[in-house]
Amino acid sequence: MAETLRRVRVALGAGRGYDVRVGAGALDALGEVTRRAAGEDARRVAVVSNARVFKLYGARALASLRAQRFTVTRWLMPDGERFKTLRTAERALAFLAESEIERGDAVVALGGGVVGDLAGFAAALHLRGVAVVQVPTTLVAQVDASVGGKTAVNTPAGKNLVGVFHQPRAVLADTDTLATLRPRELTSGWCEAVKHGAVGDRELFERTKKFLEEGRDARDDGRRQRLADLVAAHCAFKAKIVAGDEREDSARADARSRRVLNFGHTVGHALEAATRYGRFRHGEAVGYGMLAAAEISFRLGMLARTELESLGEAVRLAGRLPPADGLDPKLILRILRTDKKRRGGRARWVLLEGIGRARVVDGREVPASLVRAATAAALRR
Ligand code: NAD
Ligand code: GLY
Repeated sequence: MAETLRRVRVALGAGRGYDVRVGAGALDALGEVTRRAAGEDARRVAVVSNARVFKLYGARALASLRAQRFTVTRWLMPDGERFKTLRTAERALAFLAESEIERGDAVVALGGGVVGDLAGFAAALHLRGVAVVQVPTTLVAQVDASVGGKTAVNTPAGKNLVGVFHQPRAVLADTDTLATLRPRELTSGWCEAVKHGAVGDRELFERTKKFLEEGRDARDDGRRQRLADLVAAHCAFKAKIVAGDEREDSARADARSRRVLNFGHTVGHALEAATRYGRFRHGEAVGYGMLAAAEISFRLGMLARTELESLGEAVRLAGRLPPADGLDPKLILRILRTDKKRRGGRARWVLLEGIGRARVVDGREVPASLVRAATAAALRR
């Protein structure tokens, strides 16, 4: 049964915005949340999920929606990043058309970031945009992907290269669903959570670390509540950044721009590409990427050693990362250079001046030899 849900507002200006609701057992409120988000006239809801998630949570989601008199259809996409493609989006669009989803109806995305990104993308395209309610069931999706309206698919040219901004009408995060995640998915999510604190909120950083220090296995009810409080705090952090820079303005490079959320992603993406997306979960690669970016910050004299160590400790607490010491830093550098060319030659690093203080630095200020040495040091950890 759902407890009282925490409410985080994503205020987008000009009266636009939406609520993120977070709580243990929140899934039972899906019907109510969707009714409020879509309005009294909405008749149909199309649920997009995958078999793994639907088997665990589908029945509860459907029962809650039907209790609000919605006619519900569902479609299960194949599980995995490699299915986040235009081809799958086309199948999702066919499903929305067959379900006769009209402009006033809604799509519900029940799953992790892959389902959320793909269903959000399809909802943005169907009839030029219908409401989507994000129901994230992974930690990555609860603290990050479900909030902020980025939707995308991958193409042969790279990850998330085709997409649109389509803000959800509501987000509902049931933190009890995290109990069934595989440990690596939790590690991946905790790395993204560490990132939030590191770039913009020291208090959130320390609080996340403290929660992780208590140990993952503690299962008391107090911890269940603290987890929901912490996830809500991360959503509030993300909401604040998104409210200030909804579409990641490419002209901005200040410490509150959405760009700072890319901390750890430069080397992280290169690691994923170097291993053909087969070795690391995205958050795990970001874990290494954050260590590399912090090491660069330290070697540039921007970041104190104690702060570097504190970040290293937080990443360690997030969970065990797959070994990376066999990877050649020269290959990573080559991939970084190719990426840079693709973006018109202007690489920008998100670095740290301290925990909670990010700075965007022009790539020309970061010598390649330093990147190589810092990356090698980070991968040895
Ligand atoms: P994912 O969606 O692939 O989920 C990971 C695995 O966990 C999958 O096998 C899934 O079926 C399973 N799963 C999901 N919920 C579960 C549950 N409660 N219990 C048991 N198993 C469960 O991966 P992810 O890490 O959630 O998301 C990664 C994706 O999110 C990437 O495509 C990334 O690009 C995207 N992303 C988007 C944004 C954004 O702002 N839109 C932000 C971060 C990440
Ligand atoms: N996950 C980064 C962003 O939403 O901007």
